[in-house]
Amino acid sequence: MSKRDFHETAFDEGTILKLDILSKYLEEWVPVFLQGRYVNRINIFDFQCGPGRDVKKVEGSPLRIVRAIARAKPSAEGRVVPVDVYFNDADKQKIDLLQSELGSFELNAKCSYHFSALNFEDCFAEVLPHMQQQSVANFLFIDPTGLVRIEWMIDQLSMLSCTDFIMFVPSANVYRFNKVEEFQKYFPGLTFSGSLVDASREICTYIQSKLHGTRQEYYLAQFAIKKERTANINSLVFGSRSLLGLNKFLSVAWGKSPNGEANYDLCGDVLCAKQYPLPFMDRIPKKVESFHENVREMVLAKRLQTNHDVVVFALVNGFLPAQAKVALKSMKEAGLLQRVPPMSYDSVVKGKKVETLS
Ligand SMILES: C[S@@+](CC[C@H](N)C(=O)[O-])C[C@H]1O[C@@H](n2cnc3c(N)ncnc32)[C@H](O)[C@@H]1O
Repeated sequence: MSKRDFHETAFDEGTILKLDILSKYLEEWVPVFLQGRYVNRINIFDFQCGPGRDVKKVEGSPLRIVRAIARAKPSAEGRVVPVDVYFNDADKQKIDLLQSELGSFELNAKCSYHFSALNFEDCFAEVLPHMQQQSVANFLFIDPTGLVRIEWMIDQLSMLSCTDFIMFVPSANVYRFNKVEEFQKYFPGLTFSGSLVDASREICTYIQSKLHGTRQEYYLAQFAIKKERTANINSLVFGSRSLLGLNKFLSVAWGKSPNGEANYDLCGDVLCAKQYPLPFMDRIPKKVESFHENVREMVLAKRLQTNHDVVVFALVNGFLPAQAKVALKSMKEAGLLQRVPPMSYDSVVKGKKVETLS
């Protein structure tokens, strides 16, 4: 019996959450570049775009991308950067449906659509020269039904500057079948040390280590999505060349979940498999509380010396600067700090209000 096509059934809650994260992130990302202070062109790639809607007419990634662009109204004065959106799907019929669907959307004068019906890797090779142009900002949405060859993907990412991506990974399948030879070509050398609930984070760490191997700096984060009433967990791996991108993605992720990294309970906010509560512990330590404790220890040990150090430490560990500020506030209350410095991303990184902690 042949497997049903993804778009022949209604999107489930997990898919809708994935698409909401995409929308929210793009609503933050597009305006950063639209005013033209940083780049001359914006490229958005939806490599496995589908026809635009599911069977119940719920909007898929292409329509969400177009809406995010439409929402990001440029200011009246100043120049507006042109936006190129590339829609691709191996299924030509889906591309034809999408093309007629988008015909009814009023196009922003500076926005152009491009359509192709190619295999993902062939499409990537074709659009690579556009991504590599000078002064462009790229956003890549990689949403396959199966797996992407990760080493190939990393080679491609390492050729790009000013690039952000969100990539779907079926983590439960990778976790279950990783030892099967056929799977090893997708994630060579990946081994898991935790349980299934840790899989998304371990996959993200694996991708980070591969990127480091190519000396490429991308800031990564992940969000794990459990399908309702099943043990199936998928993840979104996010990457950005800039700390600003990471800050924006983490704001979206923490807005979607109390633990900032999954739509399910992580046993008291921490990953279950790594926690061995001792008999005298009255409860499992919370993820955010242990982060506060880490900040406190790092500041006391002078390993974090400025507010900038603390902001970066928070973000690369998957937390928001505001959460680190809570730790600094309690240090001040305990008499360990004289003053709590500015801690928002905008003041510290953009506004360069860097202060030594004392
Ligand atoms: C998970 S769906 C993407 C859903 C889409 N983002 C949406 O919101 O509707 C994956 C899509 O990949 C397409 N596809 C399958 N194999 C492909 C390949 N090798 N290259 C490009 N697209 C492929 C399928 O036709 C399907 O529409």
